[in-house]
Amino acid sequence: MNTSNLLQLDEFLQQCRQRVNQRLAVALDAEIASATLLEAMRYACLGGGKRIRPVLAYGSALAVGGELAAADNAAAAIELIHSYSLVHDDLPAMDDDDLRRGKPTVHKAFDEATAILVGDALQSLAFQILSADPVAQENVLEARNRLAMVQLLSQSAGATGMVGGQSLDFEAVGLELNIQQLEQMHSLKTGALIRCAVLLGGLSCESTSDSQMAALAAYADNIGLAFQVQDDILDVTSDTSQLGKPQGSDSDKNKPTYVSVLGLDEATALANSLSDKAIAALQEFPASANPLRELAAFVVSRLH
Ligand code: IPE
Ligand code: IPE
Ligand code: MG
Ligand code: MG
Ligand code: MG
Repeated sequence: MNTSNLLQLDEFLQQCRQRVNQRLAVALDAEIASATLLEAMRYACLGGGKRIRPVLAYGSALAVGGELAAADNAAAAIELIHSYSLVHDDLPAMDDDDLRRGKPTVHKAFDEATAILVGDALQSLAFQILSADPVAQENVLEARNRLAMVQLLSQSAGATGMVGGQSLDFEAVGLELNIQQLEQMHSLKTGALIRCAVLLGGLSCESTSDSQMAALAAYADNIGLAFQVQDDILDVTSDTSQLGKPQGSDSDKNKPTYVSVLGLDEATALANSLSDKAIAALQEFPASANPLRELAAFVVSRLH
């Protein structure tokens, strides 16, 4: 990435983060009987995280000729599901990690029961936002599109997506996976929500064609996998303060990763080639897809 692309991407990242943070702050300013639960939900979602999934949703809305505002609800919904997945991923019964986004994990700052409930509540809130009454929204999106978004998010978050991948991850502890098994696990546990983020952006614009959706899906499949390959790489090459989560967690827990299976050099080469494939999938799009193109490079060059 050259310097001017980097500057443009930085501006785009800032703009998208601001939009989604604002939407999340409103959503998490609700009347909830349990003040502790609300505080823990806010702790899990606000003030941390790269917001890469919302940024991707905004990026694909722009790519298909839509407005950023059209993707606000999709962006907030996908970040709520992602944040819930992190809270549960860190639990003692799962990865048993104490640090997330530079702060103690939710079960450390609160307790395990609260962390479980926070995940449950964030998941429901995501669907509440995505299916909200269009009359109250700034952007009225046809009910058909909103229904397609709800379908997609539920399939991507549940047993056929992220949760299914987390189950494979848990079953794989201490095992040697082959590359196909690893790819399936990563594509589900991480790829599914990233793919969903990109496709939600496409669905947020009513004029998006089937061929545009197919191109976005090809882009998303490649960066979804690349994102987790880079996450595996950073677990080895980065440090805890830069990551904001414990470095070395995968090897400590005896988890098979792209680095443990392929080695660092091959894993890095794979991440770069997936990023190139993602960019190639966007061929039919004009310059409106430049943020997505730059994000594909960012996913594999990021340091945390
Ligand atoms: C971490 O995701 C978990 C994975 C799926 C690899 P991110 O790296 O996007 O985490 P945040 O949202 O920036 O904290
Ligand atoms: C997480 O994978 C995937 C999720 C569904 C949260 P990891 O367990 O590798 O994520 P980190 O490294 O803890 O962020
Ligand atoms: Mg995990
Ligand atoms: Mg983890
Ligand atoms: Mg990881």
